Amino acid sequence: MELMDVLKKRRAVREYTDARLEAATIERLITAATLAPSAMNEQPWAFAALLDRKRIEGYGERAKWWLLENLHAAGFEERFHETLSAPGYALFYNAPALVLVLAKSSASQAMEDCCLAAENLMLAARDEGIGSCWIGLARPWLNLPETKKELRLPKGCEVVAPIVLGYPKEWPEPHGRNPAEIYWLA
Ligand SMILES: Cc1cc2nc3c(=O)[nH]c(=O)nc-3n(C[C@H](O)[C@H](O)[C@H](O)COP(=O)(O)O)c2cc1C
Repeated sequence: MELMDVLKKRRAVREYTDARLEAATIERLITAATLAPSAMNEQPWAFAALLDRKRIEGYGERAKWWLLENLHAAGFEERFHETLSAPGYALFYNAPALVLVLAKSSASQAMEDCCLAAENLMLAARDEGIGSCWIGLARPWLNLPETKKELRLPKGCEVVAPIVLGYPKEWPEPHGRNPAEIYWLA
């Protein structure tokens, strides 16, 4: 696809088909993620991936219940309570793949670098006809020391972007954006 088409047609996908994703596909998308720019070219990212729908959903359930009990402490507003407690709400949308973009260091701009890598990954996925959704709601639970230990994430890393991936049941229509607010500096 042309770059502008990818930008316009990427959408957060929340319904996935039963089709699995291959490890090689995930590795290709992660390679695209690593092409992102980073401050001082430090490339302070690492990636964790899981291709097991059941396990992904199990983690999603645990993250959801933890968040419901710790919503405010985790920095989310009350309105998320309703979303999370809706019957059958699956935090990871029954996706067949989960990729975590991890910041390996607390370098001052590691967060920004990892966000750029995450966007690259989602755009590369769109280019291949694969849907994605960044699941920020899962982040606080994923960053608990006990969760990181259980998932055997590398020591000292921080989960920046939990991203689910899979083939969309259908592509949501491109929905455009508000006009940009632009201030030309005098
Ligand atoms: C930092 C961040 C966190 C997000 N967290 C969630 C989330 O927890 N659950 C969800 O369904 N979507 C989440 N999204 C997806 C946004 O809701 C979505 O990108 C936004 O509504 C714009 O829609 P679009 O991506 O289809 O253009 C997140 C997106 C970003 C960038």
